[in-house]
Amino acid sequence: NPPPVVLPSLLLCDFGNLAAEVRAVEAAGARALHLDVMDGNFVPNITYGMPIVAAVRRVTDLPIDVHMMVAKPAAFVDEIIDAGADIVTIHAEATDDPRPILEHVRSRGACASLAINPPTPIEAIADALPLCDMVLCMSVMPGFGAQEFESVALDKLRALKSLRGDSLLLEIDGGVNAQTVAQCTAAGAQMLVVGSAIFKSQKPYAESLAELTRLAA
Ligand code: DX5
Ligand code: ZN
Repeated sequence: NPPPVVLPSLLLCDFGNLAAEVRAVEAAGARALHLDVMDGNFVPNITYGMPIVAAVRRVTDLPIDVHMMVAKPAAFVDEIIDAGADIVTIHAEATDDPRPILEHVRSRGACASLAINPPTPIEAIADALPLCDMVLCMSVMPGFGAQEFESVALDKLRALKSLRGDSLLLEIDGGVNAQTVAQCTAAGAQMLVVGSAIFKSQKPYAESLAELTRLAA
């Protein structure tokens, strides 16, 4: 199995010191970053958009996974890629047919990724799977950090793993921490998004990242 990757989610970082935060998690060993774009419509919260993605891009060469929790993803994927996204994650619940969007993301040379909320079954994305480089199984309802892990995501990871094997990258996001991370990789996730367990922990970032990576292996 490919080694697991812990992606710090910047949702709960200190935005007044964004460049320093990005450099700190990079120095602490992060190999990719996860940025949560929320529009106050698809989810009941607003975070940030293209200018912040572009600002992060300017201070790091790490791969950036942009998690678009927006009601109209098709309208914004080009700008998100222009801002520096390497992976574009859109929600299945936000569109009738994700396939043209995934195809477009791929045609722009970015990784196409499709997210499903805890109540959404994998059957809902069956037709789109061949166009996905990655699937994100949410283990919380999106909108906020520091929520409790919902293990229904694990069942979906296992099912996707047995369907697609290593041809599909699997990601999990929400409530991933030292208590839950080992179950996530055992179920087939290679990409582990972690917000509060890094940014709201008393431990230095390097210690949290090393511990999570060790527990994930
Ligand atoms: C939730 C976001 C997550 C969030 C994870 O809507 O998609 O990326 O930052 O935070 P934790 O790890 O605290 O659940
Ligand atoms: Zn996220």
